[in-house]
Amino acid sequence: MNGYSDTYTLNNGMELPCMLFGTYNPGDIDSLTLIEQAIANEYRYFDTASFYETERALGEAMKKSGIPREEFFITSKLWIDERGGQNVKEALERSLMRIGTDHIDLYLIHWPHAAKNDEEWNKKNIETWKAMEDLCREGKICEIGLSNFHPHHIEGIIKNAEIMPVIDQLELHPGYMQEYTLTYLREHDIFPQAWSPLGRARLLSDPVILELARKYKRSSAQICLRYLLQRGVSVVVKSASPARMRENQNVFDFELSFEDMSLLSCMAQAGWSGEHPDSNAPDIKSNFEQ
Ligand SMILES: NC(=O)c1ccc[n+]([C@@H]2O[C@H](COP(=O)([O-])OP(=O)(O)OC[C@H]3O[C@@H](n4cnc5c(N)ncnc54)[C@H](OP(=O)(O)O)[C@@H]3O)[C@@H](O)[C@H]2O)c1
Repeated sequence: MNGYSDTYTLNNGMELPCMLFGTYNPGDIDSLTLIEQAIANEYRYFDTASFYETERALGEAMKKSGIPREEFFITSKLWIDERGGQNVKEALERSLMRIGTDHIDLYLIHWPHAAKNDEEWNKKNIETWKAMEDLCREGKICEIGLSNFHPHHIEGIIKNAEIMPVIDQLELHPGYMQEYTLTYLREHDIFPQAWSPLGRARLLSDPVILELARKYKRSSAQICLRYLLQRGVSVVVKSASPARMRENQNVFDFELSFEDMSLLSCMAQAGWSGEHPDSNAPDIKSNFEQ
């Protein structure tokens, strides 16, 4: 990857941006200001979700920018309680209405299930996938994928799929690379995308990362992002600060050595959010709200 506009090619020949701007939990500023600042700092590829309540602000910021819709790439996701046949169509209509667009570039199932004791989760995901395939054929969604799905959650989908998932968006960063799932994704030609690539800033003071930051004269955040890009992973990163937005984009003019890639790949677990797809929904929700 040589620049922010570079893309990865997916299993259907479509292109996936290598770096998206995350809109979850804007922090002290409002979502509209956050996204307007990101657009002003050249971000065009955005990650939102019905759960984040940032779809409306994204649509408003895109409209106010005057930049044509084709220059933007939008990922959105349907929430756990929006899964299942007819629900999906209604959820997508709500997202389209909030964003103010006639299509979403990439639409994901946000989490595979609500609770461990939900015996219907696999059936519901397959129904959801079928509905997403129909919406894809109608042209309301360009590509469809998954988020937080582990191999045992993906099997049911791909055995029944007419359109294969193009990506799986997971928590991935040095110290939490989920190698078992990553290997499965590669074997099934499903592209990995990283959420919390900085471990929500928990990783930035890790001694291994700090040492490499000193060595390459880069920030810890840049080391984490560059590592993921060199692993062939698309990243979704969020910052509320214009200076840090630019810093995060400035990772295309240096390269981590083979040795340092090994070091980061084998470091002890660090920066994990504690969120896991086989946790139950209330836990997931409360984790998000921390
Ligand atoms: N699919 C899912 O289930 C899921 C789950 C979580 C997140 N996501 C997506 O992934 C996106 C990113 O994840 P995230 O926001 O959880 O984590 P993140 O991008 O790893 O970290 C964001 C945190 O890092 C700080 N930060 C950003 N750039 C920095 C820099 N250069 N130097 C120092 N600190 C920096 C930010 O603070 P400042 O804002 O103050 O800079 C913020 O506190 C979300 O916005 C969302 O779109 C998806």
